Amino acid sequence: MIRATIFMKISSAEFVKSAFERKHWVTGRLPEIAFLGRSNVGKSSLINSLLQRKGLARASNTPGRTQSINFFLINKRFYFVDLPGYGYAKVSKTKRSDWGKMAEEYLSAREELSLSIQLIDARHEPTDLDKQLNDWLIFNKKQHLAVATKSDKLSGNQLLSRLRDIRQSFENTNVIACSAETGKGRDELWKYILGAVEKR
Ligand code: GTP
Ligand code: MG
Repeated sequence: MIRATIFMKISSAEFVKSAFERKHWVTGRLPEIAFLGRSNVGKSSLINSLLQRKGLARASNTPGRTQSINFFLINKRFYFVDLPGYGYAKVSKTKRSDWGKMAEEYLSAREELSLSIQLIDARHEPTDLDKQLNDWLIFNKKQHLAVATKSDKLSGNQLLSRLRDIRQSFENTNVIACSAETGKGRDELWKYILGAVEKR
């Protein structure tokens, strides 16, 4: 089988740390690319797929698995930041708001943040929390991009119509379809990521 050209060469990708508090964020001032979205939407899987490393960012079907801010150093040049998922109903209220606080603190304060990649499930309407986050990113003038993931679960026509709806509810936001399962959208997503890294 002939594989599509791999646009991005990953010479190194390493998990650096999990931070539960601001003082544990990495130092070194490299650009950071953050992955956001509700619990179980596929953030860790997309990171693994971009890096073509299977178990680097943990992926599971136990929602709420990623509870800390996780930093991955790529090619010693920039970081991927896996943020806790929001909107998982089964955790206690205090824990839920801790997560929100952690993510919001990171998003609003972090100077190194170069691009926020917001994941939504390609199969569904964006939830109220998805819309709130998108509005927040726009209002706060954050470089951002939306990824409709798990697109492998839809037919071509279904996907086109879902993308139309998502673009309508996420105004002023580029939306691309991806799948961690098939690699769809990977090269296009890398272009955005490298564009953001190089701008700094
Ligand atoms: P939290 O860490 O809990 O916030 O979840 P997450 O957003 O990191 O999701 P994770 O990557 O753990 O994926 C959740 C589930 O969705 C797992 O069972 C994955 O195998 C599955 N999944 C993720 N991406 C895709 C995809 O593109 N296609 C399909 N079919 N399944 C996917
Ligand atoms: Mg995760």
